[in-house]
Amino acid sequence: MCGIVGYIGHREAFPIVLEGLKRLEYRGYDSAGIAVYNGEHIELCKTKGKVSDLEDKVKAEMNTSGTVAIGHTRWATHGVPNDVNSHPHYSNSGELVIIHNGIIENYASLKKELISRGYTFKSDTDTEVLINLIEDVQKNENVKLGKAVQIALNQVIGAYAIAVFDKKKPNEIVVAKLGSPLAIGVGENEFFIASDATPFLEYTKKAIYLEDEQMAIVRLKKGIKIRKIKTDSVVAPYVQELQMNLEQIVKGGYEHFMLKEIHEQPNAIKDTYRGRLNAKEGLIRMAGIDDNIERFLNANRIIIIACGTSWHAGLVAEYIFEDLARIPVEVEYASEFRYRNPVITENDVVIAISQSGETADTLAAIKLAKSKGAFVFGVCNVVGSSIARETHAGAYTHAGPEIGVASTKAFTTQITVLTLIALKLAKEKGSISHSNFHYHLQELELIPAKVEKALLQDDHIKKIADIYKDAKNCLYLGRGFNFPVALEGALKLKEISYIHAEGYPAAEMKHGPIALIDEHMPVFVIATKKGHYEKVVSNIEEIKARKGKIIGIVTEGDEAVKSIADHVIEVPETLESLSPLLTTIPLQLLSYHIAVLLERNVDQPRNLAKSVT
Ligand code: M6R
Repeated sequence: MCGIVGYIGHREAFPIVLEGLKRLEYRGYDSAGIAVYNGEHIELCKTKGKVSDLEDKVKAEMNTSGTVAIGHTRWATHGVPNDVNSHPHYSNSGELVIIHNGIIENYASLKKELISRGYTFKSDTDTEVLINLIEDVQKNENVKLGKAVQIALNQVIGAYAIAVFDKKKPNEIVVAKLGSPLAIGVGENEFFIASDATPFLEYTKKAIYLEDEQMAIVRLKKGIKIRKIKTDSVVAPYVQELQMNLEQIVKGGYEHFMLKEIHEQPNAIKDTYRGRLNAKEGLIRMAGIDDNIERFLNANRIIIIACGTSWHAGLVAEYIFEDLARIPVEVEYASEFRYRNPVITENDVVIAISQSGETADTLAAIKLAKSKGAFVFGVCNVVGSSIARETHAGAYTHAGPEIGVASTKAFTTQITVLTLIALKLAKEKGSISHSNFHYHLQELELIPAKVEKALLQDDHIKKIADIYKDAKNCLYLGRGFNFPVALEGALKLKEISYIHAEGYPAAEMKHGPIALIDEHMPVFVIATKKGHYEKVVSNIEEIKARKGKIIGIVTEGDEAVKSIADHVIEVPETLESLSPLLTTIPLQLLSYHIAVLLERNVDQPRNLAKSVT
């Protein structure tokens, strides 16, 4: 995915767009570029590398003065990351310029056609094809920019959020969306365009989120005109009031967003259950579930679809739903599910989990499930995201913006929402006793304070990180509810430290991975008191016998594991089903500190983007 930003108004556009690109860098950071219209011509600068590299290059090369600008931060799909492939891209005449987030799937045939008509291409990108297609339409059909964009997009297969500027029409920017997000900030005779609202938060709280297959002509003085790309019908703009504030999207004194987000978890979890959980009265209120309770109660099974960390949250939910609500659950990688021919009936309930709400595989899997008649419920963090809109109903996690590429608070808040749903269904079904239900609610309310306590181990964890930072491989083991936490711990380490790590159910170790264990292998074992404790202790003995290094995540006051492990990290005691909310904390901190000690780019690890669109 990529980030796009644009501005048209009365202020100097360059600093607004540049700062906006910095905020959107979580979406892609292998190249960046910016184009400014200075009243006479378009000044353009782009480079391989980060937005800070662009800033340096601009200082040396570009006159930044002007009140219209568009900018882009890229995560390469077509063409390697280099200066030429970076956006913005000019049309052949040099009069049009474009930024694009998405993929034009039929770009090769369109390119061939344009080449046969004399167009030449500097880059390997699909985006340069699109801007020349727009120019071609503009010339051949003798239409204005907006119409040309519309005609061109009707020939395109793929996904896009685009902004196009024509220096012959300097008072407008044309934008369009299909499959990639696009927000328009509405100010006083000024407009902002961005992949999300963060670039314009300090200027306006009014935003329009374009729907798929919509385009808008954003015009100074005349305002915004929205049309459907296919049917040409006019759509009345729906202006939303943004709830987000600036403090939520800055590091607030932390060295990295990831660390800030790890430490935000006590509040994020509280925000997730606030207004939904009332332990005193023994109530769970969730509109999305309450309004559709029969669908859930009559479901043959629940199918959970997600990717990455969200998939791990889905696995935790499988244990919780089955244990508490006695509903069969299957957890599927959305990226596999969408390409299979899954057996789905109208009696299935599908839960789609996604922090960003934009993951393409999850979105496609939702559409497939809907086409087969399933009821689809979304668990998303980003309000108004594509997945939130595509699902029949849903529950937001309310974790606040997650900017670090490695998911942390998204995971724990997803588990919190899913636990609330499982408890609510268990209560309705009568599969949980009155006292156990109340006990769960009370314990869930105590989780934020316990996460707070788990975070106090930070200095101790940092020392352990220092000991194991040079490991080449690591194993993560857990059983039951904590098996998915082992997978998540391994993913966190891999993605930000680039150390190879594998997560396994502890009992599976003897079916293969035990062969890997020697004195160089750190093994992180989740061995909390409740849940197969003795069995996990036996697994630890097996590792010890093969000289593996053991780092145990244990319940406060544990003695047995402490006596055999090389190190232990304590977490407060809680119910077994809620323990993933605590055991995951030290594993997040471990990965974070190892990555920092190895001088990795923690918030923007190589080859990754925050959401795979
Ligand atoms: O936004 P989503 O939750 O749909 O994203 C899914 C994965 O791409 C995401 O969890 C990814 O695995 C993270 N980098 C993990 O930290």
